[in-house]
Amino acid sequence: MRAVDIIMKKRDGAELSREEIAFLIDGYVSGSVPDYQVSSWAMAVFFKGMSARETADLTDVMLRSGKIMDLSGITGPFVDKHSTGGVGDKVSLVLAPMVAACGIKVPMMSGRALGHTGGTLDKLESIPGYRTGLSEAEFREFIRRDGFAMTGQTSETVPADRKLYALRDVTATVESIPLITASILSKKVAEGAEALVFDVKAGPGAFMKTAERAEALAQSLVNTGTAMGKRIVGVITDMTEPLGLKVGNFLEVEESLDCLEGAGPGDLMEVTYRLGAWMLVAGGAAKTVQEGERRCRDAIRLGIARDLFLANVRSQGGRIDRLFELRGRWRAKDSYEILAPVSGYIAGIDAYKVGLAGVYLGVGRDRTTDPVYPDVGFVFKKKAGHAVTAGEHICTVYGKDAVAIETALPLAVSAFAISPSPPEARPLIIKEISAL
Ligand code: URA
Repeated sequence: MRAVDIIMKKRDGAELSREEIAFLIDGYVSGSVPDYQVSSWAMAVFFKGMSARETADLTDVMLRSGKIMDLSGITGPFVDKHSTGGVGDKVSLVLAPMVAACGIKVPMMSGRALGHTGGTLDKLESIPGYRTGLSEAEFREFIRRDGFAMTGQTSETVPADRKLYALRDVTATVESIPLITASILSKKVAEGAEALVFDVKAGPGAFMKTAERAEALAQSLVNTGTAMGKRIVGVITDMTEPLGLKVGNFLEVEESLDCLEGAGPGDLMEVTYRLGAWMLVAGGAAKTVQEGERRCRDAIRLGIARDLFLANVRSQGGRIDRLFELRGRWRAKDSYEILAPVSGYIAGIDAYKVGLAGVYLGVGRDRTTDPVYPDVGFVFKKKAGHAVTAGEHICTVYGKDAVAIETALPLAVSAFAISPSPPEARPLIIKEISAL
């Protein structure tokens, strides 16, 4: 086989065999196929697409480039959720213990903040002592004991994706649905989950900017995951405005605790309950989404989810005493209060601008090596639909230093749109695609 023939075949719009895909990807990982040929192939895929079968083969080949988590010996069912990333999206912190409280095991491998989107690992690591780099033995033990565990991907998790993603990033081939599908799905299947619920976010604050693109990705994830023998649900949710009232690492841990204590903001809980309900259905712990939601609400109301969250914090080295001492108090000393410039209604808060301003403040990062700060971010007093009067305090911004605040402020202020009349309510759950 020759890489050039495979590139030519895809360039001309033909379907590649599994062997051809494996030749290219395995060769790339081992170094026998150079990156200029893989870039050329990725561009051909970008323009010509891939069939469902090719996407499933690519996903499987990538998956097998690394280690697949072995959860044998632990009683399942194992179900995880993956979000394509948003702003203020702390759903995983509430969802994992909530679903675990309903008898589902959640092997959660999460990512870090990058660009305008936040990362679960950075949020959890803001809890003093909390470790996210678990060994496989710890990951297994905590799942068995607490029902869930939160860790990062290791260098052994889908090395093909690490290499290919870096190449796509610099060759303008990230935005290809089959390549995104294989990238996301290979990493999720490597966790050892039997069923997966994808939260594909749509809107300015999301990776997929339109509902149509988000739906195309959700459908591709569902089709490909199903072809690989997994039980898959795709939920498209709105990411026009940040989720909840807090954006920031420790700020989001605080808000997650509020949710676990039954005092979470409505938008955040609506998404969390729906995704949780689908996880229960996918894992066979509920027959319908309605039953699943009821069970999730009970897990929160009875405090079982909160207990499991704290058990996990303890297991992963987090200091519960410090968590509660710092709750509501840990704020960077440099802050600024944003006031409403005119009276009216908040028409919307642009999640993308908030996310970008968050990078300046120290919530997120531009490069994977940049540090993030626990005590910075946004606390919103008002969100879309709320009435405001001119001069009213609508948001507090916390930054790592005064320069960060000064740099972030124009963007943060421009994120707020105020209109004379109330805006139309936007549905948060845009569409659900189930292959159960
Ligand atoms: N996230 C991923 O993990 N992979 C992609 O290709 C795009 C977003």
